[in-house]
Amino acid sequence: MAESTKNATLSIDGKSWDLPIYSPTAGPDVIDIRKLYSDAGVFTYDPGFTSTASCDSTITFIDGAKGELLHRGYPIDQLAGKSHYLEVCYLLLYGELPSAEQLEIFESTITRHTMLHEQMVNFFRGFRRDAHPMAVMVGVVGAMSAFYHDSTDISDPYQREVASHRLIAKMPTIAAWAYKYSVGQPFVYPRNDLSYAANFLHMCFAVPAEEYVVDPILARAMDRIFTLHADHEQNASTSTVRLASSSGANPFACVAAGIACLWGPAHGGANQACLEMLKEIGTPDQIPEYIARAKDKNDPFRLMGFGHRVYKNFDPRATVMKQSADEVLDLLGVENNPILATAKELEKQALADPYFTEKKLFPNVDFYSGIILEAMGFPTSMFTPIFALSRTVGWVSQWKEMLNDPQNKIGRPRQLYLGNTQRDYVDIENR
Ligand code: ACO
Repeated sequence: MAESTKNATLSIDGKSWDLPIYSPTAGPDVIDIRKLYSDAGVFTYDPGFTSTASCDSTITFIDGAKGELLHRGYPIDQLAGKSHYLEVCYLLLYGELPSAEQLEIFESTITRHTMLHEQMVNFFRGFRRDAHPMAVMVGVVGAMSAFYHDSTDISDPYQREVASHRLIAKMPTIAAWAYKYSVGQPFVYPRNDLSYAANFLHMCFAVPAEEYVVDPILARAMDRIFTLHADHEQNASTSTVRLASSSGANPFACVAAGIACLWGPAHGGANQACLEMLKEIGTPDQIPEYIARAKDKNDPFRLMGFGHRVYKNFDPRATVMKQSADEVLDLLGVENNPILATAKELEKQALADPYFTEKKLFPNVDFYSGIILEAMGFPTSMFTPIFALSRTVGWVSQWKEMLNDPQNKIGRPRQLYLGNTQRDYVDIENR
């Protein structure tokens, strides 16, 4: 915990209280209100937590005004360009870039935890074929606590470590099998000779009837998508994982809660919603109509893939994703893809419109990711599961950090109650 260097003063009805202020290594100062209720008898009010720091953390930092995202201090564009997903996982989990030996051991550990308990096959088969893969993921990840009892004791550091490795290693298998089940194809088992990203593509697209060779450019693009989504500080799903964990719940249950939260269209579901929107727009000549709808206060339509709670400048992940979209579509020979053309023109027209620039609405990571994933052959329903797979390391790193924090206590927000005060029950015949 940082040391307080100065105070804020709160005055209510002529009485005042000093509140300590902490200065972070980066970002705005934070006023400590933990004793506010016991000292002053008032709560603070902050729906959506727009001004509330829920914890201290050393993992990820976002400067929304500058459009900067740092993992353990390293900028995301450097990590996406020079590193790879499993190295970023190590960095997020342990705080430093690994030595060559540490990386080899970590990669080997993750690779050797990718298989699922064979009985889980039966669990998959219990779902309807048309179940959304996110529904399957919420269920299967939650059920991991029923299959891996030996890593649910959160008071044991060794079990915490094993649970972290299992979650990161098995999530691609779970996501790929959710997909395979939905298309009625046999499950493809993990292969230890493939990289993390190539193994995922193989489990999704290989069939027993013929050999499937993973294109290294597609594996690299997949790895970059994983890297760009690896962590994003205290977003809704990460805060959900932390809140679930604050009660002492096991890691599989907590991550299942995070997956459920990520499912929503304002969060992880936005890339699916964005691609569906681009298809609905269809051609660049329809764009002005959709921009007018997005600006109309009486129309609930929003430009999906635009705007972000924290970034009030370009999302740095969107810049890398845009380059990746060009590379992947070029490789697949679809450089004249009409959806990409619509996306680029939409971005251009929106950024030339004062409505979007004045409200600081810029493309976010989801604006281009759906185009890449579709070009790779994924149906839209798989977009959010891939996000969940990528974000697992972020959830796990934040969960581990929280459990090691001596200030960790059960999360219990307060409320501004506006309902009835006490009244007497009325018997049904008298109502
Ligand atoms: N299209 C049109 N107008 C928008 C959009 C948009 N995509 N996003 C925000 N606005 C407008 C709002 O109508 C509001 O206008 P007002 O001030 O006149 O009322 C203003 O901009 C601020 O919007 P809020 O919803 O208050 O901003 P908030 O920070 O709460 O929301 C959010 C951020 C949810 C991401 C929002 O921008 C949105 O809905 N975007 C589309 C969905 C999306 O792409 N989500 C992905 C987020 S990234 C991720 O999860 C990985």
